[in-house]
Amino acid sequence: MVAIKEHTQETIEAHGGTLINREAKGAEREQLLKEAEALKTITINAWSISDLELIAIGGFSPLTGFLGKKDYLEVVENLHLADGTVWSIPITLAVTEAEADNLDIGEKIALYGEDGILYGTLDLEEKYTYDKAKEAQSVYGTTEDAHPGVKKLYEKGNIYLAGPITLLNRPKHDQFKDFYLDPAETRQLFQDLGWKTVVGFQTRNPVHRAHEYIQKSALESVDGLLLNPLVGETKSDDIPADIRMESYQVILKHYYPQDRTRLVIYPAAMRYAGPREAILHAIVRKNYGCTHFIVGRDHAGVGDYYGTYEAQELISQYEAELGIQIFKFEHAFFCKKCENMATQKTCPHDKSEHVHLSGTKVREKLRNGESLPRQFSRPEVAEVLIKGLQRGSNE
Ligand code: ADX
Repeated sequence: MVAIKEHTQETIEAHGGTLINREAKGAEREQLLKEAEALKTITINAWSISDLELIAIGGFSPLTGFLGKKDYLEVVENLHLADGTVWSIPITLAVTEAEADNLDIGEKIALYGEDGILYGTLDLEEKYTYDKAKEAQSVYGTTEDAHPGVKKLYEKGNIYLAGPITLLNRPKHDQFKDFYLDPAETRQLFQDLGWKTVVGFQTRNPVHRAHEYIQKSALESVDGLLLNPLVGETKSDDIPADIRMESYQVILKHYYPQDRTRLVIYPAAMRYAGPREAILHAIVRKNYGCTHFIVGRDHAGVGDYYGTYEAQELISQYEAELGIQIFKFEHAFFCKKCENMATQKTCPHDKSEHVHLSGTKVREKLRNGESLPRQFSRPEVAEVLIKGLQRGSNE
């Protein structure tokens, strides 16, 4: 067995060794903005803009652009880039055949959002077709379009464009600007705070008691917690990011040590790729400077597509290569007999004593204005969620 190295802030490297920065600034940016007026353009959606941003700010280091065919196939088939670096989710830019026909290899392409903003450029090195069913099966473990990640994949254009990118305008994130830091900034922040070890926590949900329990269990062993909620595109029945952000601030204020927690957004789109996405999530948090990452039950899962501990099993196979330590937690719940949060590892009582609520049930209760059991959610959190859902999202 390969030993898993313990890291601290001084030794945690960006994935692949270098924190990537593909953002043009100052005179270089002015020049590129001018040049872009004469370039061919394509319009990219919110998902691709978030990928562009994460590549440029180093969240997806070592990627410097959208994947070329060799890297793409290696990622899909073997969970590595062509140079042997572990990587689990293809980061690609799809266009239609008609769009691709209009673009020539070697050209610089201007990338506009649907809002008319020029976000960046792509140095087009390759255009290639790909096998959607193969990507679906390998990455998502299914070809069913009932899976939200697979559905998105099937809706995409049939050609991938590849090459290095340059970011010219960062997406605004106006609502969350107090909670936006890029990986270079979080690394600096951890140093300023004197945190030698930091655990990253991914979530697309409000923080409930089970999340709190595993975060705090981890926090017993490390210096700080980076609560790093995903705020990019999620499926329509997930709780909107602006409402969640309000709930995170409330729970941190009432129940967490201020000097050992920080809230920073993760501006990515949710793939719902379960085990493979757990690996991507760990890599990104390493790039943000975390030394540890939490993978609990059914990480990044949806419906019944993945086994409860499948993400933990897959990530365990790559842990030595990943260079970030993984805290794995069993399914946590409140036990009425223990009068405490627990897992199968710590609770001797019958299942009937355990408080369980499905995500669907939780959302249904909240939308009906019903509060949640205190054993499931902190009341302050439930209150924010009920008010938020009744008011509606600002997104
Ligand atoms: S995710 O799609 O972003 O992974 P979620 O916000 O539900 O979904 O989970 C965030 C993290 O908490 C994941 O690592 C997940 O495995 C873990 N988790 C969620 N609920 C539980 C639970 N009841 N017990 C243990 N871990 C959990």
